[in-house]
Amino acid sequence: MEKKFKRTLITTALPYANGPVHIGHLAGVYVPADIYARYKRLKGEDVIMIGGSDEHGVPITLRARKEGITPQEVVDRYHAIIKDSMEELGISFDIYSRTTSSIHHDTASEFFRRLYDKGEFVEKTSMQPYDETAGEFLADRYVVGTCPHCGSDRAYGDQCEACGTSLNATDLINPRSALTDSPVTMRETSHWFLPLDKWEDKLRHWILDGHKEWKTNVYGQCKSWIDLGLQPRAVSRDLKWGVPVPVEGAEGKVLYVWFDAPIGYISNTKELLPDTWEKYWKDPETRIINFIGKDNIVFHCIVFPAMLMAYGDGFQLPDNVPANEFLNLEGDKISTSRNWAVWLHEYLRDFPGKQDVLRYVLTANAPETKDNDFTWSDFQARNNNELVAVLGNFVNRAVVLTHKYFNGVVPAPGELQGVDNDAFAAIRQSSASLEDNLENFHFREALKDAMEIARIGNRYLQETEPWKVAKTDMERVRTILYVALQICGNIVVAFEPFLPFMAAKLRGMLSLDKVEWDELGHEDIVPFGTEIGQPELLFEKIDDEAVNAQLQRLADIKEQNRINNFQATPQAPDVDFDTFMKADLRVGTVLECEKVPKADKLLRFLIDDGLGKRTIVSGIAKYYKPEELVGKQVVFIANLPPRKLRGITSQGMILSAENADGSLSVITASSPVVPGAQVK
Ligand code: 2FM
Ligand code: ZN
Repeated sequence: MEKKFKRTLITTALPYANGPVHIGHLAGVYVPADIYARYKRLKGEDVIMIGGSDEHGVPITLRARKEGITPQEVVDRYHAIIKDSMEELGISFDIYSRTTSSIHHDTASEFFRRLYDKGEFVEKTSMQPYDETAGEFLADRYVVGTCPHCGSDRAYGDQCEACGTSLNATDLINPRSALTDSPVTMRETSHWFLPLDKWEDKLRHWILDGHKEWKTNVYGQCKSWIDLGLQPRAVSRDLKWGVPVPVEGAEGKVLYVWFDAPIGYISNTKELLPDTWEKYWKDPETRIINFIGKDNIVFHCIVFPAMLMAYGDGFQLPDNVPANEFLNLEGDKISTSRNWAVWLHEYLRDFPGKQDVLRYVLTANAPETKDNDFTWSDFQARNNNELVAVLGNFVNRAVVLTHKYFNGVVPAPGELQGVDNDAFAAIRQSSASLEDNLENFHFREALKDAMEIARIGNRYLQETEPWKVAKTDMERVRTILYVALQICGNIVVAFEPFLPFMAAKLRGMLSLDKVEWDELGHEDIVPFGTEIGQPELLFEKIDDEAVNAQLQRLADIKEQNRINNFQATPQAPDVDFDTFMKADLRVGTVLECEKVPKADKLLRFLIDDGLGKRTIVSGIAKYYKPEELVGKQVVFIANLPPRKLRGITSQGMILSAENADGSLSVITASSPVVPGAQVK
């Protein structure tokens, strides 16, 4: 039997404050959570949405070290950027706090202490990576090396970003310190472990028997973790940055970031509601929903629930964890370190007033069941062909026609005809599907249902053609525009969770004070006699120039990354000296240089080689203007067999060096030499 709940607690994964948030975070977590929270609020339900920055952990200290500033300075900067930009996007957190707050430190400390006092931890000594040069233990990402699964040489001590496998530092091949690049050694240290094995049966029963309704990706990941058998997990680290372990003799140790971060949900609820927070966490009639990305599933479905069970005291487990897959950008994985992202604060700067466009595109492409791709051309197409051409166009026609025929006053309808009733019936059907999809976290489908209401509106005007009927039957036009305006009213309600800025603007245009979810499907949302506002454009076209500027930015980043990541190819096998000496390398002076007709890569050179003149064809036309090379002294191989290229016989090969981006740079003599000088 379906359980009845009195209230909903929505948590959103706390983003690391080591960088701004990007479209991947938004599509995976914050936009869906916000849609759900707004929907529940519009239904008049008791709901709170909790957010905040995750300000501990190695990603923060690494960033601080890279920039030569303190971890506190790093988190202060990014917390502000994240908080402000999410607010501007309309993500309606009831609180957006941070894990460096004193209330969080106290809460996390007390949580650990209670588990410690209850004997829920096992203390174990183990060998951990150590940097002899720096004199420090190397937690998680402080160790880098080669991934044993995919061979990427940029894997971290906790995870390989290239293939997504979670790792231990000891799994890495050739582990090195991220601090000093020296090889790591192992040293003994002691830590506290939460024995997940103790909770395995309870977790299995709770998830595998009790939550078969969870998304298949979430359920499947939990099942494979549990089936593999759960192991004790360390909940402390040898680090300076974090919540100190509140136990005597634990100097130099802090709580593992994944221990304190989820407790942040509790701390932030406490901060929001100092007197009543407990009912959101401890009352079985509260429904807890964790919005996260797929890389966080194990922590939210296994580790944090085990922590809560170990703590006891009535803490409830989540009712659902609708984790999303990943959003890619133009076909490549989004990456903070590679700057391969659309950053929210930059989007808001480049597209002012277009919050809803981003919300729309990210929901329409939400990676709900599989990874999905964001492309700028799709962004432009969805804006121009859907928001402008369908939604904006319908509303505009309804409002403009009301002004034209009725001076902007909602007309009283006459008797409804078949086509009118059909339109309302279709809206009721879409509304029912919309609600069902929202309840089940199918936000992409829900958005399609909302959009269907605008499409119904357009079809309705197309069918009823009030601009034609106006010539003969104004009574009928009254009814048609009344119906069209009710469809606009339905659009306000249906879109409020998805596109709150548009919904507010349209609500104002229709002179509605407020709307409620239960009005959806109604035929009298905008009462007749209402004086509506002037038509305002809800959306405007996005032109090629704006999109091309974004594509150019990404192309520049790709270029930069290629240069940053350039790795010299491994050395070729040895050749014996005599073989090498057989190649006759010489310097020649370029006498003539010109493009080879109909071959965009080729240049024809006439070279003074000391013995006479020779022609050489070289594939460097993309990188030089021919006149730049005349007079230059270039290095060439003289004794290659002649080769015909585009009908020209090339007598040798000019040497060039290949750059990280594939461009070629001709090798020249650094001071003048006689033509024909041998290269030795
Ligand atoms: O993966 C991340 O970005 C983590 N900072 C998420 C933490 S979620 C919660 F536990 F706070
Ligand atoms: Zn890998």
